[in-house]
Amino acid sequence: MSESKGKFYITTPIYYPSSNLHIGHTYCTVMADAMARFKRLCGYDVRFLTGTDEHGQKIQTIAQEKGVTPQEYVDEVVAGIKELWKTMEISYDDFIRTTEERHVKRVQAIFMKMYEKGDIYKGEYEGMYCTPCESFWTESQLVDGCCPDCGRPVQKAKEEAYFFRLSKYQDRLLDLFENNPEFLQPESRRNEMISFVKQGLEDLCISRSTFDWGIPVPIDEKHVIYVWLDALSNYITALGYPDEPELYDKYWPADFHLVGKEIVRFHTVIWPAMLMSMDLPLPKHVLGHGWLLLEGGKMSKSKGNVVDPVKLIERYGIDALKYFLLREYTFGQDGVYTNEVMLKRINFDLANDLGNLVSRTASMIEKYCGGYVPEAATEDDTDRDLKRIATGAASKVEDQMDKFAFNMALEEIWVLVRRANKYIDEEMPWVLAKDESRKAELDTCMHNLAESLRIVSILISPFMNETAQKIRKQMGLWYADIVWEDAFTFDMMNGEQVKKGENIFPRLDIEKELEELEAMNGHKEENIPLELKPEIEFDDFDKIDFRVGTIESAEKHPKADKLLVFQVKMGTEKRQIISGVAEHFTPEEMVGKKVIVVANLKPRKLRGLESKGMIIFADNGEKLALVSTDAEDGNSVS
Ligand code: MSP
Repeated sequence: MSESKGKFYITTPIYYPSSNLHIGHTYCTVMADAMARFKRLCGYDVRFLTGTDEHGQKIQTIAQEKGVTPQEYVDEVVAGIKELWKTMEISYDDFIRTTEERHVKRVQAIFMKMYEKGDIYKGEYEGMYCTPCESFWTESQLVDGCCPDCGRPVQKAKEEAYFFRLSKYQDRLLDLFENNPEFLQPESRRNEMISFVKQGLEDLCISRSTFDWGIPVPIDEKHVIYVWLDALSNYITALGYPDEPELYDKYWPADFHLVGKEIVRFHTVIWPAMLMSMDLPLPKHVLGHGWLLLEGGKMSKSKGNVVDPVKLIERYGIDALKYFLLREYTFGQDGVYTNEVMLKRINFDLANDLGNLVSRTASMIEKYCGGYVPEAATEDDTDRDLKRIATGAASKVEDQMDKFAFNMALEEIWVLVRRANKYIDEEMPWVLAKDESRKAELDTCMHNLAESLRIVSILISPFMNETAQKIRKQMGLWYADIVWEDAFTFDMMNGEQVKKGENIFPRLDIEKELEELEAMNGHKEENIPLELKPEIEFDDFDKIDFRVGTIESAEKHPKADKLLVFQVKMGTEKRQIISGVAEHFTPEEMVGKKVIVVANLKPRKLRGLESKGMIIFADNGEKLALVSTDAEDGNSVS
């Protein structure tokens, strides 16, 4: 390989081992892996880090429910995660677990550095406390005045806690966003963060004393360090910071942190502020990717609607899954997963386009050339066109990869795959083979197809290593390493022994696969009970008076961004009801809607305005939906 082009440090988020990972989690790791492999192939000294974020109340509670220690619980889930990455050939250089000694002691050292800088102080945390969830919430996080997690009432409470002077870094953070447009992408996320910081940053509470599954605060063992401070530090503790800085000196700052859109704020506000506090360089880029959604909304283990990557890999192989994830979705945007879209990608792009090209080429070289790749002996316009596209593809892939446009990089490769298939149809080797005088043209045709596949095998190798190797084996290229520069050159092959192998991507019967996948999921879903609030008596339920109401007008609450103020007519009565739904509906779209109201709920004041009753919405954990009816308003609902 040529001399190193420099270092390239790329990270994924560290995953919560609260349960097994689903396809949404594999999405980010597959992208990071493809990028790491690509950069290695291009000659960079790559460091690729992933891991698991193992502390926090949620994990402690799950372990308690299962009757095991938190450590036992995470050990088992993490073993499964590592197994998944092994199966998927994820080429990470290090896997950090936040429960490892190396991480724990370094997070404590980081805490002390920030403390000694004067950026951490002890104060009193005041907030709304949900006793069953043991969680503090701010006013603005509450939903209809209740706990956003469990929906139960909250009380005002105070506790002693440590704070990080996040507010001190507000101006420097704004400068960072405004003067470094490259720092956070896509652009839309950057604008969101600018307005978030402009609203004013409060100091951040960075310790908890209501549970103990965490890293102890070094100066006060009653407290554990807030899980995000613990987690974000992984990007440097894994490099040995601060006590064994060899890797840190070599690889920090990170070139790219890849993160899901909901954790962009932690990575672009809290993390840079922590680094500023320690006088350390900031990561060069944070990229926020979108989510894979299901048709019904977000994937969630508790709803039983997750797509299990292991099942898909068992049926279709790792490369089909990787190709699909990288080709189908656009970085930065949400995308909907359906079995059908995935199966079509596998059939059209992999079985029809690539699989066919490989098997047609291999069998023709066996049939017309005794199984050996011939030299090119002639050249016409069609040959030249194929060569031009084949040798031009690598730089196009490079351009797309610079933009993290994995889908477009693969599309560039498929331009070549489709051109090569068309080349066969245009050259009609079966006709050339019948005419002894055209042997030279036939040889050229076979040579050019083998060359095209050689180039394809190099280009796809960062994305689909297994398939690249299979193609190279069939084309007799087993002896040569994959070298990126070779994708720019034609006419390297002569005399390789071709051996047709198994179909690399057999064609699928989509209807049949769909039925089987649905049967698999259906079976799984039936067996996962919903996570419900504690059971209630019929008498409790009977106390609620549900009524049909018509929303006559709606407007934003003048003092709270999340609230909408509705005037609702219920038969003869008109009243005002306030709901925390402004992030889900515009006032305009609510007017005229018939809704179900809890009509006998005790009235309360929400930010100065009275609310009499509560409107019912359906909640999939992500987006609220209207629960509507066409019954007359005032009707009771039973
Ligand atoms: N532990 C934190 C991250 C700490 S990083 C210092 C965390 N863990 S997580 O397991 O909940 O999520 C990890 C990543 O998976 C996030 O980037 C999140 O966006 C991503 N995804 C979770 N579900 C996803 C989809 N359905 N689709 C795409 N990505 C998804 O947050």
